[in-house]
Amino acid sequence: MTRVPVIGASGAIGRPLVNHFRKAGAGVRTVTREPTDPVALGAALDGVDAVRAGVVRQPCGDVAYSPVHERGVAVDGMLRGPANGGGPVTGTVREVTGAPSVAFETWAIEHASEFLGTMWAARIHEYGDASVISLDEVPVPRPGPGEVLIRVAATSFNPSEAGLRMGLLRDVLGVTLPHTLGWDVAGTVVTGAGGFVPGDRVIGLIDGAAAEYAVAKASVLVRAPERIPLADAAAVPVAGLTAWQAVFEHARIGRGSRVLINGAGGGVGLFAVQLAKHAGAHVVATAGPRSAAAVRALGADEVIDYTRAPLPGGNDVLINLVADPPASVTRLAEEFVSITGPIEHPRAVRFVARNDPGGLAELVALIDEGVVEVEVDARPLESLAEVHRAAERGMIRGKVVVKVVK
Ligand SMILES: NC(=O)c1ccc[n+]([C@@H]2O[C@H](COP(=O)([O-])OP(=O)(O)OC[C@H]3O[C@@H](n4cnc5c(N)ncnc54)[C@H](OP(=O)(O)O)[C@@H]3O)[C@@H](O)[C@H]2O)c1
Repeated sequence: MTRVPVIGASGAIGRPLVNHFRKAGAGVRTVTREPTDPVALGAALDGVDAVRAGVVRQPCGDVAYSPVHERGVAVDGMLRGPANGGGPVTGTVREVTGAPSVAFETWAIEHASEFLGTMWAARIHEYGDASVISLDEVPVPRPGPGEVLIRVAATSFNPSEAGLRMGLLRDVLGVTLPHTLGWDVAGTVVTGAGGFVPGDRVIGLIDGAAAEYAVAKASVLVRAPERIPLADAAAVPVAGLTAWQAVFEHARIGRGSRVLINGAGGGVGLFAVQLAKHAGAHVVATAGPRSAAAVRALGADEVIDYTRAPLPGGNDVLINLVADPPASVTRLAEEFVSITGPIEHPRAVRFVARNDPGGLAELVALIDEGVVEVEVDARPLESLAEVHRAAERGMIRGKVVVKVVK
């Protein structure tokens, strides 16, 4: 963890500054001009634990202290501060950088990423089985223009990423190794861009979210739903967008449609059932014994146990979410939408979901309205390899979010 010395931490500027750095994951050390009672300083820090914040006593003269809290809010004040101790050491901000001075707090927030040092990231260095996933200590990524630095609350597991890890997507989805896993992100903005400011809660479909911090173009992020815990919202982007596009764009489900959702117990299926119900369809869903109750609770009108009963026919549309659908499914509906293997039928489409922040924002609105529920099974980042292994054995159901616990 990076330690950030904050000079003048007990002042009007210093207090929120300390809190910003701590939220950004840095260890804050405060430096006081005079030997200060840590208990009194802790109280002055308005809730910041003086011991956990690493308060150090520092006699005057050993450091270039700057009591910015006493002299005003501009960085100029900080730069000129040491002048009190024996002559000017530098000029104003504009003289030094050519840029206008800003409030110290603003400057510190904008530069927070530069103080963060390293982080843990779940990466693959080569393609292979789940043992190729390792937790590595790597530099915190720096956001470029138009990019946001996010403190990640959670990512989620998507089966396609197991395919990526095995190297099966090499031809369609080239990545540079080592590669940080994690397409779904839910987190808090550290360094803002594009209308997002520090502290905003966001979600999105990005690259490299299986880490303590991630950068993403502001344009692919949307505000996180407020009704559910932030980490749970990591379940939404890939699975929710795929379900959204299957139901509304490809199947074009409307009121009175009879839709068969094959594979409703999975991450995509749980969203698809709810969206199809919201569209006014009669929803027939396939689910095994372990998922039947959840699928029914989310609104399916009929739940067929695919481990025991044949799939029912007479549907307007079949949305297939199961790998390798049998050829016989073509007898079950008039139209077909598949997100996995192709279905050989003139009225069948197969698609790969696209990143669509507009659709994601609409989905977030439905979540906040209580129309769409988000159910998750949460695991820690350290267990990501185990999640991949469990998925390969068919041992996970619904949506697994992978929490980045600090
Ligand atoms: N094209 C795209 O853009 C796109 C996007 C996302 C995902 N995908 C792919 O779509 C598939 C589904 O994704 P997902 O995230 O929903 O996967 P998932 O969460 O891993 O799905 C697992 C679920 O599949 C169900 N299942 C397994 N075999 C079944 C069968 N024969 N009949 C009915 N249900 C069965 C199980 O339900 P029970 O618990 O009821 O047994 C299990 O809970 C994956 O192959 C994934 O790679 C494609």
